Amino acid sequence: MTRHPFAVVRVASVTSTQREARERANSGCRSGTVVLAEEQTAGRGRGSNSWFSSKGDGIWLTLVHRSRRPIAEWPSMTSVAALAVCRALEDNGLSPLVKWPNDVLISGKKIAGVLAESYEDAILIGIGINLLQDEGDFPDELLDKATSVRIESRHAAEETDLGIEPFLEILLPRLAADLESVERSGPRATLDSVWERSVIRDCFVELARPDGEMISGRAAGLGAIGDLLIDTDKGHVSVANGTVIGWRGA
Ligand code: BTN
Repeated sequence: MTRHPFAVVRVASVTSTQREARERANSGCRSGTVVLAEEQTAGRGRGSNSWFSSKGDGIWLTLVHRSRRPIAEWPSMTSVAALAVCRALEDNGLSPLVKWPNDVLISGKKIAGVLAESYEDAILIGIGINLLQDEGDFPDELLDKATSVRIESRHAAEETDLGIEPFLEILLPRLAADLESVERSGPRATLDSVWERSVIRDCFVELARPDGEMISGRAAGLGAIGDLLIDTDKGHVSVANGTVIGWRGA
């Protein structure tokens, strides 16, 4: 049963669904096209990070979204997608948290990630969710950093249906609803919901900007476009792009 407006295009093996979606956007595909891959051979994360996307083990997708919102608000789409992922995980009895701006964590490990990139008049919203991996399925360098719905469900109170299709049936309507809310009313309510789930909320954080500058202070909230607001010794700072490299105590 389909309860979402997306046109899902299923592909077997691709380098990255971001690339596939970009090509389709370039050819004028309709807004709401979702490229869903069984496997990615060169999945990408933020910056120069790669994204491990083994065959049939997770949800690897990119949505082509043409927004009616001002371009200045587009950075908030990362938070919109992260919230939809959190809600879908919560519907499965799990308790995820968001590590600004794009990581979804459970037990301090990454279970999902979002990569939102603008391309001409479209936003390419990439989502990766680890579903079916066991501990031994991750490469050594991810052992302490990555987890999956299957692993986390062993500790959850409710039984979780682990299949990719049942999970998509929950995720895609969630994503459609959260996008529609932002298109209709702007991102503020969504950003507040993300902040409620933020692992760094009110914590003392250390953050690296892309140019290497370090910022430290109390994580105070999310600004109007999903930027991180930090109270520092020198006053309030808004950070649009950066990586939280450490945090402690609220
Ligand atoms: C991150 O954690 O830095 C973002 C990870 C995003 C991974 C998804 S999987 C589907 C889409 N295609 C990619 O190559 N990356 C995104």
